[in-house]
Amino acid sequence: MQKLAFIGFGVVGQGLAEILLKKKKELKANFGYEFSVVAVSDFNKGSALKQDGLDLSTLLELAGDNKISEYPGAEAGLNALETIRKSNADVVVEVSYTNIETGEPAHSHFKAALEAGKHLVTTNKGPTALFLRDLVALAAKNGVQLRYEGTVVAGTPVLNLNDLCLAGNEVTEIRGILNGTTNFILTNMEKGRSYENVLKEAQELGYAEAKPDADVEGWDALAKVMILAKSVMRADISVEDVDRTGITGIKLEDIEAAKKEGKRYKLIGKVTREGGGVRASVRPEKVDLTDPLASVGGATNALTFVTDLLGEVTIVGPGAGRVETGFSLLADLLTIHRTQ
Ligand code: HSE
Repeated sequence: MQKLAFIGFGVVGQGLAEILLKKKKELKANFGYEFSVVAVSDFNKGSALKQDGLDLSTLLELAGDNKISEYPGAEAGLNALETIRKSNADVVVEVSYTNIETGEPAHSHFKAALEAGKHLVTTNKGPTALFLRDLVALAAKNGVQLRYEGTVVAGTPVLNLNDLCLAGNEVTEIRGILNGTTNFILTNMEKGRSYENVLKEAQELGYAEAKPDADVEGWDALAKVMILAKSVMRADISVEDVDRTGITGIKLEDIEAAKKEGKRYKLIGKVTREGGGVRASVRPEKVDLTDPLASVGGATNALTFVTDLLGEVTIVGPGAGRVETGFSLLADLLTIHRTQ
């Protein structure tokens, strides 16, 4: 029985909770996977700790009204760090607010979980992008797993694809559409709509980050490029090493001109092996229409691995969304279940 503590219970955390609730029987029947949620702590929605398990339907209902602390018979009032340390969870699901400048407060949650000997699954890009190497070492030191599939392209399995299916290849380049909001904007601008109008729609549809600059100035894609560089290429890079340009300088005329050349603008995140290191960038590029990335429209993401044994392998799939990102956490939980 896997005991889970949720740190953060917003869209993604609730997405996982809904999947766990819906698929409880199948998960047990197909994988022998059983779980118990023993704690939840959310900065806005409250906290509840009950070592013998909380009922997920009740939790989801209370979360809707920001009243998790009113869970009957549970200990309330614990902050994230107290919850991690006090709960008997063996896996911490860290899905709190992401900060790609400092990684906090999630970075402290990560360290507390690993130091307490608890596995950590997360979709939180900030601390993963900034501190992955140290965190991997901390997990190894404490004999636990750190899994972060959902930090890049949500539940679309790019990290597992690299770690499991492409193992044995040398990956010489990774390039892709790593941000749904900007791809949605560029796709719709191609249809003649204005930048402002489409950005507003992306916000309404829930793709955009809390501060849309994170999307349109390329910061969100930069975090994912850093995670790919560190995870796939084992490179030691920092924010300043990534050559970053967002899409705010792209005008309708540029898009029209590219179209006449048989090309299409995409915000491309790229990591290329170079000498002993890597070159990394996020910038709008004119992609040839024959490139598989050119046909990926709307909020969909895609990533091409350039490998020595297989040539180019492209995976296309959702890069955001409640269930789609919630699923990445389920995939990580099942991996821990299978490999423990
Ligand atoms: N704002 C991000 C996107 C969400 O548009 O892709 C997923 O990181």
